[in-house]
Amino acid sequence: MDGSQIQYTANSLESQWMPFTGNRDFKADPRLVVKSEGVYLTDHKGGQVIDGSSGLFCNPLGHGRREIADAVHAQMIANDYCSPFGMGHPGAFALAERVAQRLPEPINHVFFVNSGSEAIDTALKMAMAYHRARGDSQRVRYVSRERAYHGVNIGGISLSGMVKNRETFPHVMPNVVMMRHTWSEDELFNKGQPTKGAELADDLQRFCDTYGGTTISAVFIEPVAGSTGTLLPPVGYLERVREICDANGILLVFDEVITGFGRLGTPFAAQKFGVTPDIMTMAKALTNGAIPMGAVAVKDDIYETVTNASPENAIEFFHGYTYSGHPAACAAGLATQQIIDDEGLFERVAENEQYFIDAIWSLKGHELVKDLRAMGYMAGVEVHHDGAPGRRGTQLQKDLFWNGCHVKFTGDTAIVAPQFIAERSHIDEMVDKIRKTLDQALA
Ligand SMILES: Cc1ncc(COP(=O)(O)O)c(C=O)c1O
Repeated sequence: MDGSQIQYTANSLESQWMPFTGNRDFKADPRLVVKSEGVYLTDHKGGQVIDGSSGLFCNPLGHGRREIADAVHAQMIANDYCSPFGMGHPGAFALAERVAQRLPEPINHVFFVNSGSEAIDTALKMAMAYHRARGDSQRVRYVSRERAYHGVNIGGISLSGMVKNRETFPHVMPNVVMMRHTWSEDELFNKGQPTKGAELADDLQRFCDTYGGTTISAVFIEPVAGSTGTLLPPVGYLERVREICDANGILLVFDEVITGFGRLGTPFAAQKFGVTPDIMTMAKALTNGAIPMGAVAVKDDIYETVTNASPENAIEFFHGYTYSGHPAACAAGLATQQIIDDEGLFERVAENEQYFIDAIWSLKGHELVKDLRAMGYMAGVEVHHDGAPGRRGTQLQKDLFWNGCHVKFTGDTAIVAPQFIAERSHIDEMVDKIRKTLDQALA
Protein backbone atom coordinates (compact mmCIF):
# COMPACT_ATOMS: atom_id res chain seq x y z
CA MET A 1 0.00 0.00 0.00
CA ASP A 2 1.45 3.39 -0.85
CA GLY A 3 0.64 6.76 0.68
CA SER A 4 -2.01 7.70 -1.86
CA GLN A 5 -4.30 4.92 -0.62
CA ILE A 6 -4.20 5.96 3.02
CA GLN A 7 -7.33 7.73 4.18
CA TYR A 8 -7.74 9.52 7.47
CA THR A 9 -9.79 12.27 8.96
CA ALA A 10 -8.89 14.51 11.88
CA ASN A 11 -11.41 12.65 14.03
CA SER A 12 -9.90 9.28 13.29
CA LEU A 13 -6.67 10.38 14.97
CA GLU A 14 -8.37 11.16 18.29
CA SER A 15 -8.30 7.75 19.95
CA GLN A 16 -4.55 7.41 20.23
CA TRP A 17 -2.96 9.44 23.05
CA MET A 18 0.46 9.88 21.47
CA PRO A 19 3.70 9.60 23.48
CA PHE A 20 6.07 12.58 23.82
CA THR A 21 3.97 14.52 21.29
CA GLY A 22 1.96 17.72 21.29
CA ASN A 23 -1.27 15.79 20.61
CA ARG A 24 -3.45 18.80 19.74
CA ASP A 25 -0.83 20.28 17.47
CA PHE A 26 -0.08 16.96 15.75
CA LYS A 27 -3.71 16.12 15.15
CA ALA A 28 -4.27 19.52 13.55
CA ASP A 29 -1.39 18.90 11.12
CA PRO A 30 -0.45 15.21 11.19
CA ARG A 31 2.74 13.71 9.87
CA LEU A 32 2.06 10.06 9.15
CA VAL A 33 4.59 7.64 7.76
CA VAL A 34 3.01 4.99 5.59
CA LYS A 35 6.08 3.27 4.18
CA SER A 36 9.76 3.01 4.99
CA GLU A 37 12.55 1.54 2.93
CA GLY A 38 16.31 1.95 3.17
CA VAL A 39 17.05 5.51 4.31
CA TYR A 40 13.68 6.90 3.20
CA LEU A 41 10.23 7.24 4.70
CA THR A 42 7.10 8.02 2.68
CA ASP A 43 4.62 10.39 4.29
CA HIS A 44 0.85 10.16 3.91
CA LYS A 45 0.86 12.80 1.18
CA GLY A 46 3.32 10.74 -0.84
CA GLY A 47 6.41 12.82 0.01
CA GLN A 48 9.85 11.25 0.41
CA VAL A 49 11.51 11.95 3.74
CA ILE A 50 15.11 11.01 4.43
CA ASP A 51 15.54 9.48 7.87
CA GLY A 52 18.15 11.64 9.60
CA SER A 53 17.72 10.09 13.05
CA SER A 54 17.57 6.38 12.17
CA GLY A 55 13.97 6.47 13.39
CA LEU A 56 14.64 7.10 17.05
CA PHE A 57 18.31 6.02 16.75
CA CYS A 58 17.14 2.44 16.34
CA ASN A 59 17.24 1.48 12.62
CA PRO A 60 20.90 1.78 11.64
CA LEU A 61 20.61 -1.01 9.06
CA GLY A 62 17.93 0.87 7.15
CA HIS A 63 14.21 0.25 6.96
CA GLY A 64 12.43 -2.73 5.49
CA ARG A 65 15.27 -5.22 5.86
CA ARG A 66 13.92 -8.34 4.24
CA GLU A 67 16.32 -10.65 6.11
CA ILE A 68 14.90 -9.49 9.45
CA ALA A 69 11.28 -9.78 8.32
CA ASP A 70 11.90 -13.28 6.94
CA ALA A 71 13.65 -14.43 10.12
CA VAL A 72 10.78 -13.14 12.28
CA HIS A 73 8.20 -14.72 10.00
CA ALA A 74 9.93 -18.10 10.09
CA GLN A 75 10.24 -17.90 13.88
CA MET A 76 6.56 -17.06 14.28
CA ILE A 77 5.62 -20.14 12.32
CA ALA A 78 8.07 -22.41 14.14
CA ASN A 79 7.56 -21.18 17.73
CA ASP A 80 5.73 -17.93 18.39
CA TYR A 81 6.05 -17.83 22.15
CA CYS A 82 7.70 -19.62 25.00
CA SER A 83 7.55 -18.71 28.68
CA PRO A 84 10.91 -17.26 29.67
CA PHE A 85 10.42 -18.24 33.33
CA GLY A 86 11.81 -21.70 33.99
CA MET A 87 11.80 -22.50 30.28
CA GLY A 88 13.74 -21.32 27.28
CA HIS A 89 14.14 -21.45 23.53
CA PRO A 90 17.34 -21.70 21.51
CA GLY A 91 17.12 -18.24 19.98
CA ALA A 92 17.46 -16.43 23.31
CA PHE A 93 20.65 -18.32 24.19
CA ALA A 94 22.04 -17.80 20.71
CA LEU A 95 21.38 -14.06 20.78
CA ALA A 96 22.79 -13.66 24.30
CA GLU A 97 26.00 -15.36 23.14
CA ARG A 98 26.16 -13.20 20.03
CA VAL A 99 25.73 -10.02 22.06
CA ALA A 100 28.25 -11.17 24.66
CA GLN A 101 30.84 -11.60 21.89
CA ARG A 102 30.56 -7.89 21.18
CA LEU A 103 31.04 -6.86 24.81
CA PRO A 104 34.29 -6.07 26.58
CA GLU A 105 35.59 -8.73 28.97
CA PRO A 106 34.52 -9.72 31.56
CA ILE A 107 30.96 -8.73 30.62
CA ASN A 108 29.53 -12.07 29.53
CA HIS A 109 25.99 -12.38 30.84
CA VAL A 110 22.95 -10.90 29.11
CA PHE A 111 19.42 -10.48 30.51
CA PHE A 112 16.65 -9.68 28.02
CA VAL A 113 13.98 -7.03 28.44
CA ASN A 114 11.72 -5.19 26.01
CA SER A 115 12.94 -1.60 25.99
CA GLY A 116 15.61 0.75 27.20
CA SER A 117 13.43 1.86 30.09
CA GLU A 118 13.04 -1.73 31.27
CA ALA A 119 16.78 -2.19 30.91
CA ILE A 120 17.34 0.68 33.33
CA ASP A 121 14.88 -0.70 35.90
CA THR A 122 16.53 -4.09 35.54
CA ALA A 123 20.01 -2.62 36.00
CA LEU A 124 18.84 -0.86 39.18
CA LYS A 125 17.51 -4.13 40.53
CA MET A 126 20.68 -5.98 39.57
CA ALA A 127 22.73 -3.46 41.51
CA MET A 128 20.44 -3.94 44.52
CA ALA A 129 20.59 -7.73 44.24
CA TYR A 130 24.38 -7.74 43.87
CA HIS A 131 25.06 -5.62 46.93
CA ARG A 132 22.51 -7.59 48.94
CA ALA A 133 24.07 -10.89 47.94
CA ARG A 134 27.39 -9.59 49.26
CA GLY A 135 25.80 -8.43 52.52
CA ASP A 136 26.47 -4.82 51.50
CA SER A 137 22.92 -3.62 52.07
CA GLN A 138 23.72 -0.10 53.22
CA ARG A 139 24.29 1.00 49.62
CA VAL A 140 21.01 2.82 49.14
CA ARG A 141 22.09 5.81 47.04
CA TYR A 142 22.19 6.14 43.26
CA VAL A 143 24.05 8.68 41.23
CA SER A 144 22.97 10.09 37.89
CA ARG A 145 23.70 13.31 36.04
CA GLU A 146 22.04 16.54 35.04
CA ARG A 147 20.59 16.27 31.52
CA ALA A 148 20.65 12.45 31.70
CA TYR A 149 17.99 10.42 29.89
CA HIS A 150 17.44 6.91 31.16
CA GLY A 151 13.97 6.21 29.82
CA VAL A 152 10.61 6.83 31.37
CA ASN A 153 9.81 4.12 33.89
CA ILE A 154 9.90 5.14 37.54
CA GLY A 155 13.53 3.99 37.79
CA GLY A 156 14.54 5.97 34.72
CA ILE A 157 12.59 9.03 35.79
CA SER A 158 14.24 8.89 39.21
CA LEU A 159 17.58 9.04 37.40
CA SER A 160 16.38 11.63 34.90
CA GLY A 161 18.34 14.83 34.61
CA MET A 162 15.92 16.17 32.01
CA VAL A 163 13.62 18.30 34.09
CA LYS A 164 10.53 18.20 31.85
CA ASN A 165 10.55 14.42 32.02
CA ARG A 166 10.26 14.37 35.79
CA GLU A 167 8.56 17.54 36.99
CA THR A 168 5.05 16.13 36.43
CA PHE A 169 5.87 12.98 38.37
CA PRO A 170 6.83 13.69 41.96
CA HIS A 171 6.73 10.09 43.25
CA VAL A 172 10.12 8.78 42.29
CA MET A 173 12.89 6.78 43.98
CA PRO A 174 14.52 8.58 46.90
CA ASN A 175 18.27 8.92 47.42
CA VAL A 176 19.27 9.88 43.88
CA VAL A 177 21.92 12.56 43.55
CA MET A 178 22.99 14.28 40.35
CA MET A 179 26.46 15.02 39.09
CA ARG A 180 26.79 18.04 36.82
CA HIS A 181 26.48 17.57 33.08
CA THR A 182 29.54 17.92 30.86
CA TRP A 183 28.47 20.59 28.36
CA SER A 184 30.23 23.93 28.67
CA GLU A 185 29.74 27.30 26.94
CA ASP A 186 33.55 27.48 26.87
CA GLU A 187 33.87 24.63 24.38
CA LEU A 188 31.42 25.52 21.62
CA PHE A 189 32.07 23.99 18.18
CA ASN A 190 34.72 21.75 19.67
CA LYS A 191 35.34 18.85 17.30
CA GLY A 192 35.76 15.73 19.40
CA GLN A 193 35.82 15.33 23.16
CA PRO A 194 36.06 18.51 25.24
CA THR A 195 39.60 18.92 26.47
CA LYS A 196 38.50 20.54 29.71
CA GLY A 197 36.06 19.17 32.26
CA ALA A 198 37.51 15.85 33.49
CA GLU A 199 37.32 17.33 37.00
CA LEU A 200 33.50 17.26 36.75
CA ALA A 201 33.91 13.57 37.59
CA ASP A 202 34.98 14.68 41.05
CA ASP A 203 31.32 15.44 41.80
CA LEU A 204 31.19 11.71 42.46
CA GLN A 205 34.09 12.01 44.87
CA ARG A 206 32.22 14.81 46.66
CA PHE A 207 29.21 12.52 47.09
CA CYS A 208 31.52 9.85 48.51
CA ASP A 209 32.99 12.41 50.91
CA THR A 210 29.57 13.74 51.88
CA TYR A 211 27.47 10.57 52.14
CA GLY A 212 30.17 7.92 52.47
CA GLY A 213 31.27 5.91 49.43
CA THR A 214 29.93 2.76 51.07
CA THR A 215 26.37 4.12 50.91
CA ILE A 216 26.42 4.47 47.12
CA SER A 217 25.17 1.55 45.05
CA ALA A 218 25.67 2.57 41.42
CA VAL A 219 26.40 5.43 39.05
CA PHE A 220 24.44 5.65 35.80
CA ILE A 221 26.14 7.30 32.84
CA GLU A 222 25.37 7.66 29.15
CA PRO A 223 28.94 7.67 27.77
CA VAL A 224 27.69 10.17 25.19
CA ALA A 225 24.51 11.75 26.51
CA GLY A 226 22.15 11.29 23.57
CA SER A 227 18.62 12.47 24.17
CA THR A 228 19.76 15.74 25.65
CA GLY A 229 21.49 16.58 22.37
CA THR A 230 24.80 14.68 22.08
CA LEU A 231 27.02 15.74 24.97
CA LEU A 232 30.48 14.22 24.79
CA PRO A 233 32.51 13.21 27.83
CA PRO A 234 35.57 15.39 28.42
CA VAL A 235 38.93 13.69 27.91
CA GLY A 236 39.73 11.67 31.05
CA TYR A 237 36.25 12.06 32.56
CA LEU A 238 34.97 8.49 32.19
CA GLU A 239 38.33 7.14 33.35
CA ARG A 240 38.09 9.26 36.50
CA VAL A 241 34.53 8.10 37.21
CA ARG A 242 35.74 4.50 36.84
CA GLU A 243 38.59 5.13 39.30
CA ILE A 244 36.28 6.62 41.93
CA CYS A 245 33.82 3.74 41.53
CA ASP A 246 36.63 1.21 41.97
CA ALA A 247 37.98 2.96 45.05
CA ASN A 248 34.55 2.92 46.69
CA GLY A 249 32.98 -0.37 45.57
CA ILE A 250 30.38 1.48 43.48
CA LEU A 251 28.97 -0.18 40.35
CA LEU A 252 29.39 1.74 37.12
CA VAL A 253 26.48 1.42 34.71
CA PHE A 254 26.88 2.58 31.12
CA ASP A 255 23.54 3.27 29.51
CA GLU A 256 24.32 2.34 25.92
CA VAL A 257 20.77 2.37 24.62
CA ILE A 258 21.81 4.82 21.88
CA THR A 259 25.58 4.32 21.73
CA GLY A 260 25.37 0.50 21.67
CA PHE A 261 25.75 -1.50 18.46
CA GLY A 262 28.04 0.71 16.48
CA ARG A 263 26.74 4.27 16.71
CA LEU A 264 30.25 5.47 17.57
CA GLY A 265 32.01 3.16 15.11
CA THR A 266 32.88 0.58 17.76
CA PRO A 267 30.56 -2.15 19.08
CA PHE A 268 29.87 -0.10 22.21
CA ALA A 269 31.00 3.24 23.63
CA ALA A 270 32.91 1.26 26.25
CA GLN A 271 35.38 0.22 23.54
CA LYS A 272 35.48 3.68 22.00
CA PHE A 273 36.56 5.24 25.27
CA GLY A 274 38.48 2.26 26.62
CA VAL A 275 36.51 2.25 29.87
CA THR A 276 34.70 -0.90 30.97
CA PRO A 277 31.61 -0.51 33.15
CA ASP A 278 30.17 -3.21 35.42
CA ILE A 279 26.72 -3.19 33.85
CA MET A 280 25.59 -2.12 30.39
CA THR A 281 22.08 -1.35 29.22
CA MET A 282 21.15 -1.56 25.56
CA ALA A 283 18.08 -1.70 23.28
CA LYS A 284 17.18 0.03 19.98
CA ALA A 285 19.72 -1.24 17.41
CA LEU A 286 19.82 -4.69 19.02
CA THR A 287 16.97 -5.64 16.66
CA ASN A 288 17.30 -2.72 14.24
CA GLY A 289 14.16 -1.41 15.95
CA ALA A 290 12.08 -3.93 14.04
CA ILE A 291 10.80 -5.72 17.16
CA PRO A 292 10.98 -4.13 20.63
CA MET A 293 13.85 -5.51 22.68
CA GLY A 294 16.38 -4.39 25.27
CA ALA A 295 19.07 -6.11 27.29
CA VAL A 296 21.27 -5.68 30.32
CA ALA A 297 24.75 -7.16 30.31
CA VAL A 298 26.82 -7.69 33.46
CA LYS A 299 30.27 -8.74 34.48
CA ASP A 300 30.82 -12.37 35.47
CA ASP A 301 31.24 -11.38 39.11
CA ILE A 302 27.78 -9.81 39.26
CA TYR A 303 26.07 -12.78 37.63
CA GLU A 304 27.96 -15.30 39.78
CA THR A 305 27.53 -13.40 43.03
CA VAL A 306 23.76 -13.09 42.59
CA THR A 307 23.18 -16.64 41.33
CA ASN A 308 25.48 -18.27 43.90
CA ALA A 309 23.87 -16.47 46.82
CA SER A 310 20.69 -18.57 46.54
CA PRO A 311 20.22 -22.22 47.43
CA GLU A 312 20.33 -24.76 44.57
CA ASN A 313 16.96 -25.08 42.79
CA ALA A 314 15.84 -21.63 43.95
CA ILE A 315 15.09 -18.66 41.72
CA GLU A 316 18.03 -16.31 42.20
CA PHE A 317 16.73 -13.05 40.78
CA PHE A 318 13.03 -12.34 41.24
CA HIS A 319 12.68 -10.27 38.12
CA GLY A 320 11.74 -10.73 34.46
CA TYR A 321 9.07 -9.92 31.92
CA THR A 322 6.49 -12.04 30.12
CA TYR A 323 8.23 -11.03 26.91
CA SER A 324 11.86 -11.29 28.06
CA GLY A 325 13.73 -12.89 25.17
CA HIS A 326 10.60 -13.16 23.01
CA PRO A 327 11.25 -15.54 20.10
CA ALA A 328 10.31 -12.92 17.49
CA ALA A 329 12.65 -10.35 19.05
CA CYS A 330 15.47 -12.89 19.26
CA ALA A 331 15.00 -13.80 15.60
CA ALA A 332 15.10 -10.11 14.68
CA GLY A 333 18.17 -9.63 16.90
CA LEU A 334 20.07 -12.55 15.37
CA ALA A 335 19.28 -11.41 11.84
CA THR A 336 20.33 -7.86 12.75
CA GLN A 337 23.65 -8.96 14.21
CA GLN A 338 24.31 -11.10 11.14
CA ILE A 339 23.74 -8.17 8.79
CA ILE A 340 26.02 -5.95 10.88
CA ASP A 341 28.84 -8.46 10.43
CA ASP A 342 28.12 -9.32 6.79
CA GLU A 343 28.06 -5.67 5.76
CA GLY A 344 30.84 -4.49 8.08
CA LEU A 345 28.59 -1.73 9.39
CA PHE A 346 30.56 -0.72 12.48
CA GLU A 347 33.64 -0.30 10.30
CA ARG A 348 31.60 1.70 7.83
CA VAL A 349 30.67 4.19 10.56
CA ALA A 350 34.31 4.47 11.59
CA GLU A 351 35.34 5.08 7.95
CA ASN A 352 32.69 7.72 7.30
CA GLU A 353 32.71 9.38 10.71
CA GLN A 354 34.95 12.26 9.60
CA TYR A 355 32.89 12.86 6.47
CA PHE A 356 29.74 13.07 8.59
CA ILE A 357 31.33 15.38 11.14
CA ASP A 358 32.68 17.69 8.42
CA ALA A 359 29.24 17.80 6.81
CA ILE A 360 27.69 18.78 10.15
CA TRP A 361 30.41 21.40 10.65
CA SER A 362 29.40 23.04 7.37
CA LEU A 363 26.49 24.47 9.42
CA LYS A 364 28.95 26.42 11.56
CA GLY A 365 28.48 30.12 11.03
CA HIS A 366 24.77 29.88 10.36
CA GLU A 367 23.09 32.66 12.27
CA LEU A 368 20.76 30.27 14.11
CA VAL A 369 23.39 27.71 15.08
CA LYS A 370 24.68 28.01 18.63
CA ASP A 371 26.81 24.87 18.93
CA LEU A 372 27.76 21.68 17.12
CA ARG A 373 28.83 18.43 18.76
CA ALA A 374 29.49 15.08 17.14
CA MET A 375 31.08 11.69 17.44
CA GLY A 376 30.63 8.59 15.28
CA TYR A 377 27.27 8.87 13.54
CA MET A 378 25.71 11.02 16.21
CA ALA A 379 25.58 14.82 16.22
CA GLY A 380 23.88 17.63 18.10
CA VAL A 381 23.01 20.75 16.12
CA GLU A 382 21.95 23.26 18.75
CA VAL A 383 20.13 26.40 17.64
CA HIS A 384 19.61 29.59 19.61
CA HIS A 385 16.24 29.55 21.31
CA ASP A 386 13.71 32.21 20.39
CA GLY A 387 12.96 33.34 23.94
CA ALA A 388 10.95 30.24 24.86
CA PRO A 389 13.36 27.27 25.11
CA GLY A 390 12.24 24.39 22.91
CA ARG A 391 9.72 26.35 20.81
CA ARG A 392 12.02 26.90 17.85
CA GLY A 393 13.22 23.27 17.94
CA THR A 394 9.66 21.96 17.84
CA GLN A 395 8.82 24.15 14.86
CA LEU A 396 12.05 23.26 13.06
CA GLN A 397 11.38 19.55 13.44
CA LYS A 398 8.00 19.98 11.73
CA ASP A 399 9.32 22.26 8.99
CA LEU A 400 12.23 19.93 8.34
CA PHE A 401 9.87 17.00 7.92
CA TRP A 402 7.90 18.85 5.25
CA ASN A 403 11.21 19.73 3.63
CA GLY A 404 11.84 16.00 3.33
CA CYS A 405 14.03 15.12 6.32
CA HIS A 406 13.17 13.52 9.64
CA VAL A 407 15.39 14.56 12.55
CA LYS A 408 14.49 14.22 16.23
CA PHE A 409 14.80 17.48 18.11
CA THR A 410 15.20 17.69 21.84
CA GLY A 411 14.53 21.20 23.06
CA ASP A 412 16.40 23.36 20.55
CA THR A 413 18.89 20.70 19.48
CA ALA A 414 18.58 18.46 16.44
CA ILE A 415 20.00 15.00 17.04
CA VAL A 416 21.29 13.89 13.66
CA ALA A 417 22.03 10.16 13.58
CA PRO A 418 22.23 8.69 10.08
CA GLN A 419 21.69 5.05 9.37
CA PHE A 420 24.92 3.12 9.01
CA ILE A 421 23.95 2.17 5.46
CA ALA A 422 23.62 5.84 4.46
CA GLU A 423 25.80 6.87 1.54
CA ARG A 424 27.78 10.10 1.71
CA SER A 425 25.23 11.60 -0.68
CA HIS A 426 22.51 10.85 1.88
CA ILE A 427 24.48 12.66 4.57
CA ASP A 428 24.78 15.64 2.22
CA GLU A 429 21.04 15.51 1.59
CA MET A 430 20.28 15.57 5.31
CA VAL A 431 22.58 18.50 5.98
CA ASP A 432 21.30 20.44 2.94
CA LYS A 433 17.73 20.04 4.12
CA ILE A 434 18.67 21.12 7.63
CA ARG A 435 20.41 24.21 6.20
CA LYS A 436 17.45 25.06 3.98
CA THR A 437 15.08 24.74 6.93
CA LEU A 438 17.26 26.99 9.09
CA ASP A 439 17.40 29.54 6.24
CA GLN A 440 13.62 29.50 5.94
CA ALA A 441 13.30 30.07 9.69
CA LEU A 442 15.33 33.26 9.31
CA ALA A 443 13.44 34.55 6.28
C1 LIG B 1 20.19 6.44 26.96
C2 LIG B 1 18.79 5.94 26.93
N1 LIG B 1 18.36 5.15 27.92
C3 LIG B 1 17.11 4.67 27.94
C4 LIG B 1 16.22 4.98 26.92
C5 LIG B 1 14.83 4.45 26.96
O1 LIG B 1 14.59 3.53 25.96
P1 LIG B 1 13.09 3.13 25.56
O2 LIG B 1 12.49 4.33 24.90
O3 LIG B 1 13.28 1.96 24.65
O4 LIG B 1 12.39 2.77 26.82
C6 LIG B 1 16.64 5.78 25.87
C7 LIG B 1 15.72 6.13 24.77
O5 LIG B 1 15.99 6.95 23.93
C8 LIG B 1 17.95 6.29 25.88
O6 LIG B 1 18.39 7.10 24.91
